[in-house]
Amino acid sequence: MNKSRRRAVIAGNWKMNKTPSETKAFIEELKTALPEADCDVIVCVPFVDIAAAVEAAKGSDIKVGAQNVHFAENGAYTGEVSAKMLNDIGCEYVIIGHSERRQYFGETDETVNKRLTAALAAGLKVVLCVGEMKNERERTVTDEIVSMQTKIALLGVEREQMENIIIAYEPVWAIGTGLTATEKQADEVCGIIRSVISAKYGVDIGETTTIQYGGSMNAKNAASLLSKYHVDGGLIGSAALTADTFSAIVEATNQ
Ligand code: PGA
Repeated sequence: MNKSRRRAVIAGNWKMNKTPSETKAFIEELKTALPEADCDVIVCVPFVDIAAAVEAAKGSDIKVGAQNVHFAENGAYTGEVSAKMLNDIGCEYVIIGHSERRQYFGETDETVNKRLTAALAAGLKVVLCVGEMKNERERTVTDEIVSMQTKIALLGVEREQMENIIIAYEPVWAIGTGLTATEKQADEVCGIIRSVISAKYGVDIGETTTIQYGGSMNAKNAASLLSKYHVDGGLIGSAALTADTFSAIVEATNQ
């Protein structure tokens, strides 16, 4: 099997950073800084920045995503945003199941599954995050945890919907900590996720699903992580907040 069958995807997860005016300025800067690269580039921005991001990205290859979505179509869910709303505003992607949502906002595997199926039904593409905590890795249950998260998230998802799903392996202990999984660890766990997908949907889908690594990926370590067979891209937090470092990571997909 050949890794080139898969599309490389570099996605920025801005988390709770940048105002709408900063978003506009940043994307203008990014448009000139981005190198030629055979990969998709996504910026996942706060809800209030989506309109500014969509407008600023017009005429470029930069795609815009959100960082969460509610599972109901509409209704009495104060403070929430539906998949239809995201679609209507021109947002193409949404991150679902990020560990910060799981840790701080009560996200569970079940709600991840509900959000994911709602997002797909509304025509959004999903970046599904899975990953183990530090104590789970220490107890050598990474394989089981990540497999279970992936399986539950994909309950009810049809084979043909897999083309609209990217999976991001994000070890929780590596997020925002400056600690990065080794290339070997990243490759191993992305490979485990791929085998879960192959078992459920067939090897063809497993081999064509984009699986990213995320967790302190930066301009220095991106090339070696991305060189691994199962690592098809990155979900980038802090290094996505400056145009130079984010562009350098995009450049690393060329190697
Ligand atoms: P980080 O965040 O790159 O700052 O570690 C990654 C993420 O949370 O997606």
